[in-house]
Amino acid sequence: MSRRIRPARRRLPALILASLVALPSVAQTPSFYNLVEGTPLDFSDLEYEEETDAVKAFKRSGRNPYNEDQTAIRNGESLFATACSGCHGHHGEGKLGPGLTDDYWTYPANNTDSGLFSSIYDGLTGQMGPQKNRLTQDEMLQVMAWVRSRYTGDPANAGWKSSAPRNASFSTRSLPPTQRSPA
Ligand code: HEC
Repeated sequence: MSRRIRPARRRLPALILASLVALPSVAQTPSFYNLVEGTPLDFSDLEYEEETDAVKAFKRSGRNPYNEDQTAIRNGESLFATACSGCHGHHGEGKLGPGLTDDYWTYPANNTDSGLFSSIYDGLTGQMGPQKNRLTQDEMLQVMAWVRSRYTGDPANAGWKSSAPRNASFSTRSLPPTQRSPA
């Protein structure tokens, strides 16, 4: 009797330990979604692009390691001037596309780094097409670091600075009615 019970008892602590180890890593792995469609971003067609350490770290944590990195911000500024300023203005103040430096977001997920990356990588609606074949992922992170460096909103609303890992949560409920897809 006691022999049959013992192995089960021994397995129990191991199971608890395994779930303690596994759970946080599952919960913290960020997922990246198209903010309009809700579909997972497809990285498979980028196999030719070697991921830099920054990109790898970003995909693990959902946080942009280039935020506040002065070299990346300088590069990001010139990349933004080439790839984004025609629509968003030279200072990100908004033109054809919305301003990117205040704390109002059409898509609230842009207040997180994984959301901002998803907008750039996969595009949104209308003229905001996917940039994934125009910029490398590392360049996108540098552009993002520059955008964050221009932030003029309330520091308390700077969601990307909070310590919690952030997912590119999407919600069509947060979109203006004209941008909701038909039911
Ligand atoms: C051809 C014009 C065009 C270019 C180039 C462009 N955008 Fe956009 N962008 C837009 C438009 C238009 C929207 C609004 C789309 C929507 O609301 O669905 C937009 C929306 C966005 C948003 C969402 C803002 C919000 O309030 O939620 C972000 C972030 C953004 N763009 C970043 C960028 C970045 C960074 C680049 C350069 C890598 C870029 N865009 C290049 C036109 C453009």
